[in-house]
Amino acid sequence: MSEHAFAVLRHLSDGRFHSGEDIAQALGCSRTLVWQAVHAIESELGLTVFSVRGQGYKLAQPFAWLDVASVRAALSDTAAETYTLAVAERTDSTNSQLMARAGNGGLHGLVLACEQQTAGRGRLGRRWQARLGAGLTFSLLWRFNRGVAELAGLSLAVGVALARALRALGAPVALKWPNDVLLDGRKLAGILIELSGDALGPAAVVIGIGVNVADPGEVDQPVATLAQAGLTPDRNQVLAALLNELELVLRDFDRDGFAPLREEWWRLSAHQNAPVRLAFSHGEPLDGVACGVADNGALQLETAQGMRTFHIGEVSLRERR
Ligand code: BTN
Repeated sequence: MSEHAFAVLRHLSDGRFHSGEDIAQALGCSRTLVWQAVHAIESELGLTVFSVRGQGYKLAQPFAWLDVASVRAALSDTAAETYTLAVAERTDSTNSQLMARAGNGGLHGLVLACEQQTAGRGRLGRRWQARLGAGLTFSLLWRFNRGVAELAGLSLAVGVALARALRALGAPVALKWPNDVLLDGRKLAGILIELSGDALGPAAVVIGIGVNVADPGEVDQPVATLAQAGLTPDRNQVLAALLNELELVLRDFDRDGFAPLREEWWRLSAHQNAPVRLAFSHGEPLDGVACGVADNGALQLETAQGMRTFHIGEVSLRERR
C-alpha cells in the first residue's frame, strides 16, 4: 500500500476535485507519488476516483472520517466516563487488536474503531468485509465481574443494545438468533464476541461489531444497509448511539445476566414462532419452530421429536419458507 494513500484520501474525501499538483504540494511529495496513491486507493481500498484532465482527482463517494472528538461529543455522561476511544485508519481486525490488549492490561471500556480492516473476522470462521467509509467497524474491551462461565446470553444482550440504538436512529431492525441484526430480512450488522479469562475468574471480553451504513461494495452475501432504509447518518453519530446503549446493557448484564432482557430480545426477534432450519458444522440440519429463548440465551425449538434447546456455538439459523 502506498504510504501516501490515506493522506491523499483525506484530501479527496470532501468529494471535490483536487489537482495532483495541489495535493503533491500540500503533502510535500511528487505528483507521481500522488498518482501512485490514487492508484492504491482504487486497487487496494476499492474506492472509485474520477480523474479528469485539467481538473484533477475526485472521489466518487465522499464520506466523513471517523473522529474521536465527534464520537465523544455525542456520548452520554456515563458512557463518556466509561469509554476510552481510539480510531485507526487501517488494521488487521479490531477484535484481534483488542484481544491482544485484553491479556495485556488493556483498559475496561477501551474502544477501537477502524476505517479499514484487512482481515475482518465474522462468526463461524467467516470474513467481514466493508468498503472504506461505508461501514462502521469497531470493537470494545469489557471486563466483567462475572466469570466466563456466566456469560451465556451476552451476545443476545449485545443484540438488544444494537437494536435499541438502530431503531432510535430510524431503522426498524429485527434480531436473528443468536446475534445478527436484520433489516428487511437481510443482515445489517453482525457481532463477534471473543472471551479471554478462566471459567471462574473475572472475564475480559472483546465485543466486535460491524454495521453496514452504506453499500459495502462486493461482499459474499446480500446485505442490508442503513442507506437502503433512507438513512444517511454520520458514522460518528451511529458509533456514539451504539456505545451509549451498550454501556447501559453491559452494565446491567454484569449485574443481572440476560434474564431481564429475555422478553425484549424475543419481541425483537425476526422469527417469533416461525419455521426455521438449524445448520450445524457437522451433521444434518434440523427443522423446527422457534419458540423462544432461555435465560441463558439458548434457542428453544419445537421439533418433530419435541422441544429442544440449542446453545450458541457452531449452529446457524435459517428461515424456512
Ligand atoms: C458476524 O456476523 O459474523 C460477526 C461480524 C463481526 C464483524 C466485526 S467488524 C469489527 C470487529 N472486528 C472483526 O474482525 N470482526 C468484528
